Amino acid sequence: MKRLYIQTYGCQMNERDSERIAHVMKSMDYCLTDRIEEADLVFLNTCSVRDKAEQKVYSALGRWRELKQKREGVVVGVGGCVAQQEGSDLLRRVPHLDLVFGTQSIPELPRMVKEVESQKKRSVVIGFQRDASYMEDVEPRVEVNGPKAMVTIMQGCNKVCSFCIVPYVRGREISRSSESIIQEIRSLVRQGVTEVVLLGQNVNSYGKTSPGELTFPQLLDKINDIEALRRIRFMTSHPQDLSVQLVEAFAKLERLCEHLHLPVQSGADAVLERMRRNYRREEYLRKIARLRACRPDIALSTDIIVGFPGETEEEFEQTLEILQEVEYDEIFAFKYSPRPHTAAAKLYRDDVCDAVKKERLEQVLRLQNELSLRKNLQKLGAVEEVLVEGPSRHRKGQLMGRTRTNRIVNFLGEDSMIGRFVSVAVVGASPNSLIAEVLSEENVSEMIDSRGIA
Ligand code: SAH
Ligand code: F3S
Repeated sequence: MKRLYIQTYGCQMNERDSERIAHVMKSMDYCLTDRIEEADLVFLNTCSVRDKAEQKVYSALGRWRELKQKREGVVVGVGGCVAQQEGSDLLRRVPHLDLVFGTQSIPELPRMVKEVESQKKRSVVIGFQRDASYMEDVEPRVEVNGPKAMVTIMQGCNKVCSFCIVPYVRGREISRSSESIIQEIRSLVRQGVTEVVLLGQNVNSYGKTSPGELTFPQLLDKINDIEALRRIRFMTSHPQDLSVQLVEAFAKLERLCEHLHLPVQSGADAVLERMRRNYRREEYLRKIARLRACRPDIALSTDIIVGFPGETEEEFEQTLEILQEVEYDEIFAFKYSPRPHTAAAKLYRDDVCDAVKKERLEQVLRLQNELSLRKNLQKLGAVEEVLVEGPSRHRKGQLMGRTRTNRIVNFLGEDSMIGRFVSVAVVGASPNSLIAEVLSEENVSEMIDSRGIA
């Protein structure tokens, strides 16, 4: 048995890719380790969406030089978006690097690793594929990791948001076949998974480039029919493509969790225009109102960019206003950074200085903290269904789980509760999480019955 260590940067899409890397390397007898010093194969799975991603990768690789010096035969590889972006430059600039694999090249890995091991052959594979087969694993997933599983339904993006590098490093939109998605979810459910997170850069476009394929709302409909699956989530949706059918799905599908991540990026129309986001503030707010009309208890989260080129103080104020108006449950806020290839980097000077970006980011986060805390305090005394994910990261000795609205809940409980649903009463709140007491836990035999395997 050989050992594989993977360091993952970035989004859920990358986390899922790392799971797939581990999965394909199993065929070569590699198993995962979290101790880099004992690994025979070390991979960096990279993200290039923001900041100085390339520099971070080069310096992380610099630190890995000594791994090779200490242990002969260690193989070092870089995958993901920075690999896609930098390609053979990485091999040229980092002499101790053996492999560079792009975002669509995971199935190639066993062959690439074999060639390094047997012939010391360094290689780069970063081509884009024409069909979705590269997203399918040769063998079905053999092990699930807890009650919640990520399922990639599509990759790539055909949008042209001017700040975003994703279309250049993840390629054009490609959707997996609905048949194989459903098959995968059925198999996960048989193995005990009760919550799936459907992943894609813009899931609302699911199927659009595959003639005859289901639309995203139709796919949700089918997944909603899978017995014993309890929760469905998805990310991410572009507001422009949030169709009436998708909004209605929130009213109709009982397994679809009442939570939506709908990145707004900015509250100012002029900035949205420069970002090429193709919707305006009022249109976005109308969609939010429609969603709330369909599902009054829906939780909303969003992404915000501050300091986009040319963002004036007034325009920034409009972003603060939209946060107040929508009252999101959670936000992810970033300072704008110019990315290679993107229209914004070519057309605009990065003219909001870093001190101003920093100040705006702090203002946004301060405001959201207040809003989130207020929302969470309203939950005091409420009874919530929580799917228990594992030990709490921030509260020692406690467990953590999530409500259907994606709120993190910490509570005292037994390890045997992990993977199960518990009913809790909320007794405390902070901006980012709730504190609760367990009222009752679901009976295991009931769960087995409902899965039809008792
Ligand atoms: N649709 C994608 C978006 C990927 S990028 C998804 O699946 O989430 C995630 C977020 O990073 C974006 O919504 C945006 O808020 C932020 N982002 C992207 N490019 C950026 C840039 N150049 N500078 C700052 N933030 C950026
Ligand atoms: Fe990026 Fe816009 Fe697509 S943020 S991933 S180009 S929807």
